[in-house]
Amino acid sequence: MRIIVEEDYESMSKKAALFVAGQIILKPDTVLGLATGSTPLGMYNELIEMYKREEVDFSEVITFNLDEYYHLPHDDLQSYHYFMKENFFKHINIKEENIHIPDGMAFDIEGECREYERAIEASGGIDLQVLGIGENGHIGFNEPAEQLNVYTNLVNLTEETIKVNSRFFSSPEEVPQKAVTVGMGTILKARRILLLANGEKKAEAIRDTVCGYVTTQVPSSFLQLHPDVTLILDKAAASLLYSDMI
Ligand code: F6R
Repeated sequence: MRIIVEEDYESMSKKAALFVAGQIILKPDTVLGLATGSTPLGMYNELIEMYKREEVDFSEVITFNLDEYYHLPHDDLQSYHYFMKENFFKHINIKEENIHIPDGMAFDIEGECREYERAIEASGGIDLQVLGIGENGHIGFNEPAEQLNVYTNLVNLTEETIKVNSRFFSSPEEVPQKAVTVGMGTILKARRILLLANGEKKAEAIRDTVCGYVTTQVPSSFLQLHPDVTLILDKAAASLLYSDMI
């Protein structure tokens, strides 16, 4: 694992945007795996600014988002469809047909999951997967459990995740209990992985990701098995790592 520690959220976001833009400059038809949540927002803003300055071109880029809530309409303000459109896609020159987000509204949800996997395969596989991390070590919505899913699947969110994510909803009761998420195997098949984390609340999860046992109770710990993972952290998220690891 390559670990880069930046002073604060702003410089973490800038470094992450440079990392992603570098990938796209080297391979304009990059297949990008994308995350939602608070963490990558700064990176998306930086990438939008780079696009406006004509430093990066998304016209050939293909994207696959990690997850979507189950049964939340695409135009719901809390849906990840809405989040991605408002915070990134509508500001750049990506082609509509190159955007993929799991359809949590699909009638045949198992068929949708299989189709999502097939589409990733058909695109040639993910070149760079951007990840955030839950306070409990989840990546995508692969929650700590006895067993983890390999492929895209419908999963139950843990009480902890529902509580943490309720900050975006009016009450915890409104948070969907289930989500469709790309599985652990699909994440680990990406050629490169970039994990971002900021803030003290992520420090334990980052410590367990980097130097804990590989365990299904900390899904992010499986990243230790991948040959090309970069972590870009702010100081607070890195605060429980020993200096010889960085
Ligand atoms: C979202 C996702 C989640 C988030 C994680 C951290 O697409 O895959 O794993 O990355 O819950 O969320 P934030 O960034 O809001 O702390």
